[in-house]
Amino acid sequence: MDYFEYRGGVLHVENVPMPRIAEEVGTPVYIYSRATLERHAQVFKQALSGLPRTHIAFAIKANPNIAVLKVLAKQGYGADVVSGGEIARALAAGMKAEDIVFSGVGKTRAELQYGLDVGIGQFNLELEEEGAVLAQLAHASGKTASAVLRVNPDVDAGTHAKISTGKSENKFGVPISEAKGIFERLAGRPGLNLRGVALHIGSQLFDLAPLEAAYRRIGELVAELRAEGHVIDRVDLGGGLGVPYERDKVPPSPADYGAMVERVAKDWDVTLMFEPGRVIVGNAGVLLTKVIWVKPGVLRPYIIVDAAMNDLARPAMYDAWHDFEAVVPTGERINANIAGPVCETGDTFAMNRDIDAMKAGDLGIFRTAGAYGATMASTYNSRALVPEVLVDGDQFAVVADRVMPETLIAAERVPDFLKD
Ligand code: LLP
Repeated sequence: MDYFEYRGGVLHVENVPMPRIAEEVGTPVYIYSRATLERHAQVFKQALSGLPRTHIAFAIKANPNIAVLKVLAKQGYGADVVSGGEIARALAAGMKAEDIVFSGVGKTRAELQYGLDVGIGQFNLELEEEGAVLAQLAHASGKTASAVLRVNPDVDAGTHAKISTGKSENKFGVPISEAKGIFERLAGRPGLNLRGVALHIGSQLFDLAPLEAAYRRIGELVAELRAEGHVIDRVDLGGGLGVPYERDKVPPSPADYGAMVERVAKDWDVTLMFEPGRVIVGNAGVLLTKVIWVKPGVLRPYIIVDAAMNDLARPAMYDAWHDFEAVVPTGERINANIAGPVCETGDTFAMNRDIDAMKAGDLGIFRTAGAYGATMASTYNSRALVPEVLVDGDQFAVVADRVMPETLIAAERVPDFLKD
């Protein structure tokens, strides 16, 4: 459920009509709904309420905007981060360091040290050597790092290959068959409290079966580790739950997911950690854009909008679907291609799509753009960096500025040897 609705024929975000935002902030612009964010956060929390001990760390790579993080922090969410930059953001949003999980396959020594200095709650180790280095750094700083070992359960999550992470050939985690040996060698090192295991098999999952299979495997591993005398009090079950980009394709609900986790993990006697991203923010955001031209095409018209692949990369990168709707629909429908101004054939949002009829100057939105939208934006073609707006009831605020090309140019230098 979300709070993007037509009222009197005009698309509103909560109580704010979209055209008002377009007028005051310009387009393209990402728009998030606070009420939707809060609802999603609560629904996910509720879905896990049958489990004894849980911690939810929002995967902030999905939407690292500080205002968005603040909304989630107020809901009791921590953060799953993958870089020093994401640690800084989580802290800037008021999240507590102990509620932060530090994932990532390539944490540098400097990032590990930064994590230690601020007191990160859990380091998710990706390889044995990382554990050894973390132990050394922690010991040298007079600290003990709380950590879990990420295992690769070798299951096919059945999602897009570019966002699948749990097959043995993927770069993530240690092979589950080697987990016991690595645990044995790392546990008990001064500076390291290795207290559990983690996994994450992929994103935009539509089938709970592979996830359940992976969770069962990790449950067996926990039993084996305990049998060898290790104390295990944490299991991190990752993120990955899908969202409905197309309305007739409905993913498992958070409640279905929670019931599955209960079935598998209720008696593990650990704190279960969760790292949801997309399911919390996906439907809480849209990308508002304006039609520049309607260009006649050979087969069908091209609706050229002012948003492009640099603003929303998902269609060009993963052939992803985002619903497109007019902000003030006339009821008339057309068949068209929707494309951006970037000079690449791949800069299309939709081909051969039945959509609301649009003319130059009309506003439209790409739905379900709150996850992996603004955060993956770039300035390709020297376009401005897309701004973000947060709506709260009757009010809204710009929560990330449109960064203009002039600002980017000012950050570049012409070296002396090129000066005339
Ligand atoms: N935990 C880990 C270790 C992850 O790698 C990810 C996502 C998550 C949690 C959150 O997954 P989620 O609940 O959002 O599915 N840019 C791609 C998605 C990349 C996902 C990367 N990892 C897209 O736009 O579809």
